[in-house]
Amino acid sequence: MNQPDYEYLRKLLKDHSGLDLSADKQYLIESRLLPLARKAGLADIGELVQKLKSGSSAVIAQVVEAMTTNETFFFRDKVPFDHFRDSIMPEIIKGRANRKSIRIWCAAGSTGQEPYSLAMCVKELGAALNGWRVEIIATDISQEVLEKSKAGIYSQFEVQRGLPIQMLVKYFKQNGELWQLNPDIRSMVQHRQLNLLHDFSQLGVFDIIFCRNVLIYFDQDTKINIFGRLAKIMEPDGFLVLGAAETVVGLTDVFKPFPERRGLYRPSGTAAAAGRPGAATWPKVSTAARL
Ligand SMILES: C[S@@+](CC[C@H](N)C(=O)[O-])C[C@H]1O[C@@H](n2cnc3c(N)ncnc32)[C@H](O)[C@@H]1O
Repeated sequence: MNQPDYEYLRKLLKDHSGLDLSADKQYLIESRLLPLARKAGLADIGELVQKLKSGSSAVIAQVVEAMTTNETFFFRDKVPFDHFRDSIMPEIIKGRANRKSIRIWCAAGSTGQEPYSLAMCVKELGAALNGWRVEIIATDISQEVLEKSKAGIYSQFEVQRGLPIQMLVKYFKQNGELWQLNPDIRSMVQHRQLNLLHDFSQLGVFDIIFCRNVLIYFDQDTKINIFGRLAKIMEPDGFLVLGAAETVVGLTDVFKPFPERRGLYRPSGTAAAAGRPGAATWPKVSTAARL
């Protein structure tokens, strides 16, 4: 691949998905996009770039999709899910005793292991949530991973990564080599395609946002912009959960770290003061059943 083609692809990816590639990632582009080019009957990356320059939005979407890293697994890093069970949910439940509803957004849900880990945690809370409405919305830029997430079907390898055996037995049904999540857990998660670079205020206001292992691919300005918009759609006493390699520290003051709980952040109030969607504008996105 020549340098102008590399620079063209770098800019295209940054503009369309936020992916911020350093100057030396030609091999990554080659390894992800050459198979795509060949499948489309093109000889090499140069021909793919020509096709992109002709403005085909379908090809742009395929290139963006091919360059996403969808690595995920059940209860990834464990600690955030311990926080979810032991700190976040008890506090949120206490604070919402009157309205008995909780909204959770999994902002880069990939193939579903993260939102379904949350759904299983919620289910495990049992009687504490009787009569409550708990919405879990999983979004991702990639339609392909969302389709897999919706199906809730995982390989033996995937269910062996992070999922406690008791949960496998309790919440999955085996079908040959594959395991499918039971409908009661699948129906707790709603799916939507969403690019974090675009406006997401239409999703409404959330109590808890998991936005893990996606901001690491973006540059500082993009992260700051996304944090600002996340803070505007969070309840003042809500929780933001980031990935192990991500932080707001040194970037923005719209969130502050939650003491002694690594990866957990709360709105500091500065973004709310700048205005957020009012309750009257909350969308009707829910089909969530009462638990
Ligand atoms: C590494 S996975 C993380 C999955 C999960 N959050 C976890 O921590 O296990 C990153 C996900 O972010 C998605 N993604 C990348 N850029 C995005 C964007 N601009 N908007 C929304 N999702 C994006 C990718 O498609 C991918 O599924």
